[in-house]
Amino acid sequence: MVVLRVTKKDEERIKDLAALLQSQAIDEKPVEMNAEGELDACRQNLDILDQDNTTWIAIAYMDNTPAGFISITRIPKPNAKNGYLYVDELYTDPNFRRRGVADSLLDYSKTLSKSLNLAGVRLLVRNSNEPAKHCYAKNGFVLSSTTFGQWLCPK
Ligand SMILES: CC(C)(COP(=O)(O)OP(=O)(O)OC[C@H]1O[C@@H](n2cnc3c(N)ncnc32)[C@H](O)[C@@H]1OP(=O)(O)O)[C@@H](O)C(=O)NCCC(=O)NCCS
Repeated sequence: MVVLRVTKKDEERIKDLAALLQSQAIDEKPVEMNAEGELDACRQNLDILDQDNTTWIAIAYMDNTPAGFISITRIPKPNAKNGYLYVDELYTDPNFRRRGVADSLLDYSKTLSKSLNLAGVRLLVRNSNEPAKHCYAKNGFVLSSTTFGQWLCPK
């Protein structure tokens, strides 16, 4: 069974999240990780979680072990339209894949969007990411081709 906990900036959850972020970093880019460094970065970046109703991170647990997480932010609209929630990251630890973790996390984003009276949930996915595309389609997300733009701060 998947159990979800929405995290605020508390020490226990930060440790669980840092463990998942480490697993994600190793999964995506096999480099040596600095566990303490990851934990410190996590502590610093999570200040934003103390602001109500703008940012959420939900951690999914299976057998009491952190198995995945979703980070969600609310996109404000300057006019009378209802805004969307935006899923910035969705990740399941490889040991827990194909057991409904992402389904539960996406379900949470949809429930949250409804409870806030918003228009829905948006996200971006790489065209090459077949597992994620299947996952989003199964969960009712309609994928369309859009042109993605970004500007990077000069280093
Ligand atoms: C994509 C990802 C989040 C799916 O997580 P998960 O917990 O394994 O997904 P679930 O078990 O909830 O599966 C939900 C559905 O997704 C689809 N799916 C998941 N993995 C799949 C795969 N490898 N191939 C095809 N479909 C897949 C299936 O439709 C599945 O439903 P089913 O098991 O009933 O067939 C996970 O593979 C992951 O973390 N990948 C790396 C990070 C990533 O790509 N994140 C998304 C960025 S946009």
